[in-house]
Amino acid sequence: MRDMTLADVDAVSAIEQAVQDYPWTRGNFADALNNDYLCRVDEAGGAIRGYAVLMPAMDEAELLNIGVAADQQRKGLGRAMLLEMLDLARGKNMIRVFLEVRASNTAALALYHSAGFVEIGLRKGYYRNAGGGDDAITMACALPSPPPPLPPAEGSLRSNGVPTGVPLAGEVGEGRREVASNNSMIPLSRSRERG
Ligand SMILES: CC(C)(COP(=O)(O)OP(=O)(O)OC[C@H]1O[C@@H](n2cnc3c(N)ncnc32)[C@H](O)[C@@H]1OP(=O)(O)O)[C@@H](O)C(=O)NCCC(=O)NCCS
Repeated sequence: MRDMTLADVDAVSAIEQAVQDYPWTRGNFADALNNDYLCRVDEAGGAIRGYAVLMPAMDEAELLNIGVAADQQRKGLGRAMLLEMLDLARGKNMIRVFLEVRASNTAALALYHSAGFVEIGLRKGYYRNAGGGDDAITMACALPSPPPPLPPAEGSLRSNGVPTGVPLAGEVGEGRREVASNNSMIPLSRSRERG
């Protein structure tokens, strides 16, 4: 995948209009780019096959959109793009990625579950449509930080003679990272499916 640019928006929008029931407009993609969201496209042979948009917010992010061209679906591209977006977030020290998906979008739900997302909430009638409203499922995927370094071999001594198993002042907590305890969502007003 590579970064999306404004020059890609027409091609991305064309896929979006074809595969989404409630598509983003060209303006939505342009706004995402102008707001420095993480926007990526998958391209092969000069043609864009898929795209994904991730909105960072401090050490968390929300997957706002992901789509694969109709003739490229069910070939593993959606999962590859999703995993790459998670890697991107992890590389920027984010600890969790959220998304919202229509309860009726079984393909996307299966994809997210297979990538490690878990359901953390249900918003009844959240998406407006002609028949009333579709439920929204909120999902989250924790991005574990790398494990702390292994302790030195038992019995080895520091240069000052203190056994290495004993922490010195200032060492406690090293290699750890605080994880926010709340599962709060990034506030967003929207009327369509995200992620
Ligand atoms: C959701 C979407 C991105 C998946 O992309 P894809 O490239 O077809 O997905 P993959 O081939 O990587 O499939 C990954 C997994 O997703 C699930 N999946 C994908 N398409 C599916 C379908 N039609 N029915 C059921 N499960 C499906 C499966 O679990 C699949 O794993 P498997 O092939 O091992 O069974 C694609 O269907 C799409 O663009 N849909 C329209 C846009 C959309 O709904 N986006 C999500 C909301 S913004």
